Amino acid sequence: MAADHLPVLIDQVLSLLAPQPGEIVVDATLGLAGHASRMLQAVGPTGLLIGLDVDPANLARAKENLAALGGDLKSRLFHANFAQLPEVLQETGTPRVNVILADLGMASTQLDDPARGFSFQAAGPLDMRLDPRLERTAADIVNRMPETPLANLLFELGGEVFSRKIARAICRRRVDARIDTTEELVAIVCASLHVDPTSRKSKIHPATRTFMALRIAVNEELENLDRLLELAPGVLAAGGRFGVISFHSLEDRRVKQSFASESAAGTYQILTKKPIQAEESEFAFNPRSRSAKLRVARRCGQ
Ligand SMILES: C[S@@+](CC[C@H](N)C(=O)[O-])C[C@H]1O[C@@H](n2cnc3c(N)ncnc32)[C@H](O)[C@@H]1O
Repeated sequence: MAADHLPVLIDQVLSLLAPQPGEIVVDATLGLAGHASRMLQAVGPTGLLIGLDVDPANLARAKENLAALGGDLKSRLFHANFAQLPEVLQETGTPRVNVILADLGMASTQLDDPARGFSFQAAGPLDMRLDPRLERTAADIVNRMPETPLANLLFELGGEVFSRKIARAICRRRVDARIDTTEELVAIVCASLHVDPTSRKSKIHPATRTFMALRIAVNEELENLDRLLELAPGVLAAGGRFGVISFHSLEDRRVKQSFASESAAGTYQILTKKPIQAEESEFAFNPRSRSAKLRVARRCGQ
């Protein structure tokens, strides 16, 4: 496995999802195949891994990492959104699966690549699409969305309390010229809040929430998660396990509510009464684990 990605909560994922020899497992967010590699080894040559990612670059890296496992392990990888999981499963001829894992958000390869525009710390185009097939970039939102909806987006998806100030500043600036780069957006946010981005006064960078809101909107992350939560009971075999690792409260709340309502309907047994979080020892070598929350449910029925 590549050294540049450490699968979050890997021991807890394996123990709760418990992939068994011969089972069919879906990694809905393949990334660099950190979790997938371990699940594929667990299902062995009689099992099957089905991997999805919206990012073809990560998909290619995952393919290499899985191939490096060697042997006669079987995997099928798709450039697909997990919102389309039933269609993917139809293509593989396996409408029901034993395990689904979704490790939400983005991988370090994406955040660290300035050309993708995810980072307020690196100069790049204001893109933020995980899937290059998407038509709308972050620049499209910033340059076209009217002021009030833009302020609402920053508040609702990023929790930005200064959303109105920032939206006003963006709309004023774009009258003169398009805002096309991460640096331009950072400068506008900082100027509107009268803060110096290099000052260490605040714990988080002043543009953190603006960038997060735009990324969630561009990639329709909450809509896709809602769709996955809705479709999962229909594609899990009886006894199948479904795990979701989320990284902010908008995601975790949705997972919690979906599991609770499926459990009330008798469809799921919840295996994690409280979300599982990383031990402090994992924070040191995997900073991303700090905000990770894992919830797992088991599909009831025959
Ligand atoms: C946090 S990384 C996953 C890392 C992976 N678990 C590993 O161990 O290497 C999330 C991945 O999911 C992909 N992704 C995000 N939203 C997706 C969606 N709706 N459908 C499919 N893939 C998605 C991203 O492109 C990214 O590669």
